[in-house]
Amino acid sequence: MQEKTITLRFLAEPVNVNFGGKVHGGSVMKWIDQAGYACAANWCGGYAVTVYVGGIRFFKPMLIGYLVELRARLIHTGNSSMHISVDVFSKSPQSDEWVRNTHCVIIFVSVGPDGKPVNVPVYTADTDEEKQLQQYAIRLMELRKGIEDEMEAYMK
Ligand SMILES: CC(C)(COP(=O)(O)OP(=O)(O)OC[C@H]1O[C@@H](n2cnc3c(N)ncnc32)[C@H](O)[C@@H]1OP(=O)(O)O)[C@@H](O)C(=O)NCCC(=O)NCCS
Repeated sequence: MQEKTITLRFLAEPVNVNFGGKVHGGSVMKWIDQAGYACAANWCGGYAVTVYVGGIRFFKPMLIGYLVELRARLIHTGNSSMHISVDVFSKSPQSDEWVRNTHCVIIFVSVGPDGKPVNVPVYTADTDEEKQLQQYAIRLMELRKGIEDEMEAYMK
């Protein structure tokens, strides 16, 4: 059965340390990709690749030994694309208070064995919150067009 959300929980291990003694930003990005992939693969029932990661914002540093929670949530679909909001929280294992460390919207495309895009089941926003999040995904998509045009010049 397709689910719109998925949650990953684990401990930030010493192997994830950065040069400042906190959790490495690259580790957090990898976890975001993994949570997004699990959510996307469940929705499309096949394989999916990351096509875009938008504006990752690191709000607060994360500490080694903390419990990490990634909440991935499908918020919009196109023909083959799945827009997934990922929030990363952490807390001391002894505490009850989660702190939001990071947020981003990551886009996956469902692909067939030939690596070409294939259509995905249509996402329907049912609740008011889901409708707001879908509008958020659509607004981000529109804002990105300007960024893409700017980057196009660099790629030439
Ligand atoms: C993802 C990929 C298959 C798309 O192929 P493509 O020929 O660009 O396909 P299309 O132009 O038909 O676009 C397919 C979908 O991607 C979306 N897309 C393409 N570029 C995008 C971008 N920069 N930002 C957001 N979405 C994008 C399109 O909007 C389209 O969505 P829709 O079907 O819902 O309308 C191809 O670009 C690819 O293989 N990229 C590499 C993926 C990868 O290696 N990821 C990292 C490891 S998983």
